[in-house]
Amino acid sequence: MSQPLEFTQATNYEFNQDFNHEFNQDVLHGLSQQQKSIPCKWFYDAIGSKLFEAITKTEEYYLTRVETCLLEQVVKEIATITPDLSLVIEPGSGASVKTRILLSSQANLTTYVPMDISAEFLNHIARQLQQDYPNIKTTPLEGDFTKIHTPLSLNHDAERMVFFPGSTIGNFSPEDARALLRSFHHLAGKDGWLLIGVDSTQNEKQLLAAYNDKAGVTAEFNKNLLVRANRELRANFEVEQFSHEARFSKVEGKVEMHLVSSCEQTVKVASQDFNFAEGESIFTENCYKYTRRRFLAIADECSWQMEHAWQDQEESEFELFLLKSTV
Ligand code: TRP
Repeated sequence: MSQPLEFTQATNYEFNQDFNHEFNQDVLHGLSQQQKSIPCKWFYDAIGSKLFEAITKTEEYYLTRVETCLLEQVVKEIATITPDLSLVIEPGSGASVKTRILLSSQANLTTYVPMDISAEFLNHIARQLQQDYPNIKTTPLEGDFTKIHTPLSLNHDAERMVFFPGSTIGNFSPEDARALLRSFHHLAGKDGWLLIGVDSTQNEKQLLAAYNDKAGVTAEFNKNLLVRANRELRANFEVEQFSHEARFSKVEGKVEMHLVSSCEQTVKVASQDFNFAEGESIFTENCYKYTRRRFLAIADECSWQMEHAWQDQEESEFELFLLKSTV
C-alpha cells in the first residue's frame, strides 16, 4: 500500500494581492454609480461560503440537486471519453461536493486542484478531501479565478480537466463569460477538457423561487455583503433596512439579485457618505440562463468544442457540457 498523501495549505497564485483593498475599492466605486452595485465575488467570505452551501440544500434551489443527479448518471460515460485524465482543477470550488463524484469515478486521477477566494473555507474542505481520497493529491490554490492571465504552473504532462459546475458561468455577462472561458485554456492546456454546468431554465416562477427561498437563506446570503462591508470596511449599513429581491428579465434571460433600501437613508463606507432613496437598490448579481445555442456559440468563439452534452429530463433545463480545447 502506498503512503497516504499529506495535506498542504493553500498557496496564493496572485502575488501582492490585497483583498481588503480591492473590496474597499469595488464597494466605493460600485456605490458611486447611477445603479449602485457590488461585485458578486465578495459574497464568498467564510460565512458567505457556508450560507451558499445552505442555499444549495433548500427545496427551491433545484440547480445543485439536478446537477448532482446528472453527474452521477454520466460519470461512467465521461470516464470512457477521458480514460487518461490525471488532473482536475476547479475554479470557485466552494465545498467541492459535486467534485467527489468525479474523484470517485476517474481511475487515473492523481491530482485535484480546488481554487477559491475564501482561503479559510478552502483549507478546511481541502483537508477533508485529502483524508477521504488519500491517493489523490489535493493542492488548494487561493485566489480570484477571474484573474488567471497566464498559465499556472501545473503538471504539463498531465491530461487536465477544468471542472466548472453550478451554472457559475451564468454569473458573468456574455462578454465576461468569454474572457473567463478563454482564460480556462491556461488551466486546461493543449487538448485539455472543460466540464461545465449551465442552467437555461426560463420558467419565471421556478426561477424566482430558487433565488428567493421561503426560509430566507438566499436573503441572508445576499445581505451578508452588507454585514461583511460593516466588518471589513468600517461601513455602517443598517442591514434590516435593506431587503433581498430577485428579479427576472425575460428579454435578457436572467435573474438579477438586488438589495433594496426600505427607506431614505445615508450610509457611510470608509468615511464616505452614500445616499439611498426609498426603494433604491444595490445590484449584486446576475444569473444568466444561457440557452444551449447561446452557450455553445460563446464556447466556440473561445476555442471550446462540444464533445458531449447531457440534459436534465426531470425538472429543469440544466445541462452538463463536456468540451475539448481547440487551441
Ligand atoms: N451560481 C449560482 C447561480 O447562479 C450562484 C447563486 C445561487 C447565487 N444562488 C444565489 C448568487 C443567490 C446570488 C444569490 O445559481
